[in-house]
Amino acid sequence: MIDLRSDTVTRPSDAMRAAARDADVGDDVYRDDPTVNELEARAADRVGTEAALFVPTGTMGNQIAARVHADPGSEVLLDPETHTFKWELGGLADLSDLQTRTVEPAAGAVFTPKQIHANVVDEDLHRPGTGLVVVENTHNARGGVATPPEALDAVAAAAREHDVSVHLDGARLFNACVALDVAPDRMVDAVDSVMFCLSKGLGAPVGSILAGSEAFVDEARRVRKLFGGGMRQVGLVAAPGLLALENVDRLADDHDNATVLAQGLDSIPGLSAPRPETNVVRVNSADAGLTAEEFVAACEDHGVAGGAFGEHVTRFCTHLDVDRGDVEEAVASVAEAVDDYSSGSM
Ligand SMILES: Cc1ncc(COP(=O)(O)O)c(C=O)c1O
Repeated sequence: MIDLRSDTVTRPSDAMRAAARDADVGDDVYRDDPTVNELEARAADRVGTEAALFVPTGTMGNQIAARVHADPGSEVLLDPETHTFKWELGGLADLSDLQTRTVEPAAGAVFTPKQIHANVVDEDLHRPGTGLVVVENTHNARGGVATPPEALDAVAAAAREHDVSVHLDGARLFNACVALDVAPDRMVDAVDSVMFCLSKGLGAPVGSILAGSEAFVDEARRVRKLFGGGMRQVGLVAAPGLLALENVDRLADDHDNATVLAQGLDSIPGLSAPRPETNVVRVNSADAGLTAEEFVAACEDHGVAGGAFGEHVTRFCTHLDVDRGDVEEAVASVAEAVDDYSSGSM
């Protein structure tokens, strides 16, 4: 099976497994784990923040950030297609007593300053005030769209005028940086906190980083414990994370492979696949008479795994464990799948 369901399906390399085995560890709740300490220091350095915190998942990183930035009963302003709104089980409400206000971004995958001014509100006797703005880069559900730093600067500057913080869900931050040729510290310069995943595209088996100021990370460490994320000899998991940070530049290969994949799929009658900006390919199978679920099932029968992302839209992600040969084979197999379906043999 050529597994293109997500860039999370990668298997840890032999080097990562060896690094885990040999990691120097200690009790990280006591801050005694040298490998975690090194990962946090290197991660903070990479994104140019004062500090960083190792968290088990991207979801926990986003949820901790919201809890730290926003007061209970306040509102979080975010795009309805963000992971934090759509796919974190209502955690903002469930874990932190936060209400969401969703606004469709007017500028591709990010708000305009005008939208911030129009939707950030002060608390009064009747309405909750805005406690936080969340943005996502790359934007997964909008097709791996990479937003340039100037657009994030503009959002953050507008939010700052209202004294409201901005958290960046950068699960795939480095994909955006590589695609736009922007240094990570520049990309996150204006936001108040950023989460990025080591386990997406970069190949680590587990782990994400939440980064920001010293004061933010101190409080985030307390909330991580509150959410059950205080971990002990977790250097075993941080060690592969350190190696994952070395996999940033090769994301360009994933982007090139995604472009080849999209071009190949787009040339199959009945399918359309716009040119991707990063490693996320979205294929529409409506003209082939296939719902996304039917299309995914047909592809799977031909050895290619993807994920239904809408009525007729399927997502394929390129990653560390697929090369150009796999991508070419995937295109040929999907062509056969669609052909078999159209000729009624499925
Ligand atoms: C944009 C985005 N944010 C956050 C997450 C959550 O990461 P995790 O699966 O590690 O909780 C994901 C996961 O796919 C994601 O795509």
